[in-house]
Amino acid sequence: MEKLVVKGPTPLKGEVTISGAKNAAVAILPATLLIDGVCTIENLPNISDIKISCTILEKLGAKITWNDEHSITIDTSNITTTKAPLDLTSKFRASYYMIGAMLSRKGEIEVGMPGGCKLGARPIDQHIKGFELLGANVTVEKGKIYAKAKKLKGCPIYMDIVSVGATINVMLSAVLAKGTTIIDNAAKEPHIVDVANFLNTMGADIRGAGTDVIKINGVERLKGNATYSVVPDQIEAGTFMLAAVATKGDLLIKNCITKHLESITAKILEIGGNVEDNGDSIRVWCNKRPNKATIKTLPYPGFPTDLQPQMGVVLSLANGTSTINESIWDSRFQYTEELNKMGAKITAQGKTAFFEGVKKLSGAPVYSSDLRAGAALVIAGTAAEGETEIYNLEHIDRGYENIEEKFRSIGANIQRITE
Ligand code: UD1
Repeated sequence: MEKLVVKGPTPLKGEVTISGAKNAAVAILPATLLIDGVCTIENLPNISDIKISCTILEKLGAKITWNDEHSITIDTSNITTTKAPLDLTSKFRASYYMIGAMLSRKGEIEVGMPGGCKLGARPIDQHIKGFELLGANVTVEKGKIYAKAKKLKGCPIYMDIVSVGATINVMLSAVLAKGTTIIDNAAKEPHIVDVANFLNTMGADIRGAGTDVIKINGVERLKGNATYSVVPDQIEAGTFMLAAVATKGDLLIKNCITKHLESITAKILEIGGNVEDNGDSIRVWCNKRPNKATIKTLPYPGFPTDLQPQMGVVLSLANGTSTINESIWDSRFQYTEELNKMGAKITAQGKTAFFEGVKKLSGAPVYSSDLRAGAALVIAGTAAEGETEIYNLEHIDRGYENIEEKFRSIGANIQRITE
């Protein structure tokens, strides 16, 4: 068993470089299935979700060459099976993108129900509704999803709920469909724009990604033969911004798109932190105890749910009582029990949590319940007095590249220990 041991408190100081976006990369990899040929993808984050995605693609027949640890050349001209390996697809959420891509490419797919972080109910009804409106037949049985279609036909699709996954999945299935698909009430996250940019680079005709109406004119084929670089990770950048505030540090966060970070910047300024926006890097520093705040998580451009636990650490140390309303997921306050073991005073009731700010946290053994909760515990351990042991690292490793190395490079006293 592995654990991270963090000794604090340490104000994080220095420069850190952001990796490629996990949530864009895990959609772009399945999107390569739409290409009848070869393409190169750069700036892939070196995380376990990417390795699993590549293994699934190889099992479907793709040939992958690793150019270095962040870049692959992938040849999807010979897809040999429509059965995705069930054991691997159930390991992470984004395996559901195999459905949209394979329906488009082969007209058929059998895939395990997607896994991923346990954040409460994670239905995929909007994905299925989209596929069915495009002409597919979808059944869910014995933990597997079967989808089949003769020829998908473009049509208007109204999303009943703003969903990142359903927006991307329907986009994937509509790219090679006959005619035009219009997704109304689409999600607008930066990774949606990135997947659309990737597909357009390969020959797709997608307009409006990043707004709530996306128009996809179906094309005959995607030609490939191009190189694409994944957008920087908005959530990793936000994690380090909040780490700077929680530890009363001073960080220059490089290789990020600051436009994607506006909701986080606004909240950091509101609680008394400092932000200097340089366009492709952002400096965040804080030399006093942050003020209390009220946060509500919302789809982009609102405050991201994937930064809610990291913000929770900041507010657990703030002056006064703060409130977070989690509007996306039913069960995203599990990390608050771990912070309470470290001396925080948080009461979570349903989708709302109250943070009575304390002056300091103290180290304790804690368990990461999901990916972002794990990152929050690393921040808490760095801010806390004494030694924090963090367990269940498999969650963190799914989505953060070299988390301990990056934290060490900015001053944290953090070691990965195998017991
Ligand atoms: C993605 C992100 C995840 C992030 C979430 C919200 C990936 C791989 N994961 O997850 O990190 O927390 O966006 O920003 O990109 N819903 C339905 N029916 C559906 C689909 C979703 O009711 O068919 C609901 C969900 O239960 C949730 C809300 O819509 O309440 C948003 O979910 P969605 O945006 O789809 O999240 P994911 O794509 O799973």
